[in-house]
Amino acid sequence: MPYDIIIGRNEADKKSLKQKGLTYIGKGYVKMGQYTSLSNRLLLDIARSHVILVAGKRGSGKSYTLGVIAEELTNLPQETSDNIASLIFDTMGIYWTMKYPNEKDRGLLNEWKLSPQSLPVKVFAPAGHFEEYAQKGIPVDEPFALDITEMTSGDWILTFGLEMTHPVAVLISRIITKLKNQKKTTTSLQLSKK
Ligand SMILES: Nc1ncnc2c1ncn2[C@@H]1O[C@H](COP(=O)(O)OP(=O)(O)O)[C@@H](O)[C@H]1O
Ligand SMILES: [Mg+2]
Repeated sequence: MPYDIIIGRNEADKKSLKQKGLTYIGKGYVKMGQYTSLSNRLLLDIARSHVILVAGKRGSGKSYTLGVIAEELTNLPQETSDNIASLIFDTMGIYWTMKYPNEKDRGLLNEWKLSPQSLPVKVFAPAGHFEEYAQKGIPVDEPFALDITEMTSGDWILTFGLEMTHPVAVLISRIITKLKNQKKTTTSLQLSKK
């Protein structure tokens, strides 16, 4: 039985935490000539915080890997799951499928002694698209929207793809500053009235 490879955990934590705070994210593999065979289990530390880069060419499994990590985080024993939650900004709209058990790959999962599972995912969708997504059969739970008064002039300039020095960008900055100042005055007026 090959030993487990633990990613992101130092020796002291390995001794004190043992098997606690680990997620099973896959297996390493070895290549011998034309043969490729799966080897050691890969476990990722989640007892501490990490900055992780998942890199690879298109179709190499980056999104899949993130899905595996997210599923593992959602599926922890309560002792650990009380301390951790995942938040995914899913610009491609691919992770809501975690709500449904993966019956299609049941055979593949069996080989890994895993079974298809639905996970308690909450799907937020942009308010303007919520109905459309729901009608398409995407299991959206809540609409969300950003409060535009919280956007800075920098955010607006970025939104319109302008250079800071562009005349329109300068105009935006001036207007936003003016509006923010007005808002401050009205808020302090309201406060002083109370
Ligand atoms: N470890 C894996 N086991 C089974 N299928 C996988 C695995 N990794 C990726 N795939 C499949 O390969 C395809 C491409 O993976 P994907 O994660 O979308 O690639 P990327 O995000 O790097 O472009 C998908 O159909 C995905 O389901
Ligand atoms: Mg991808």
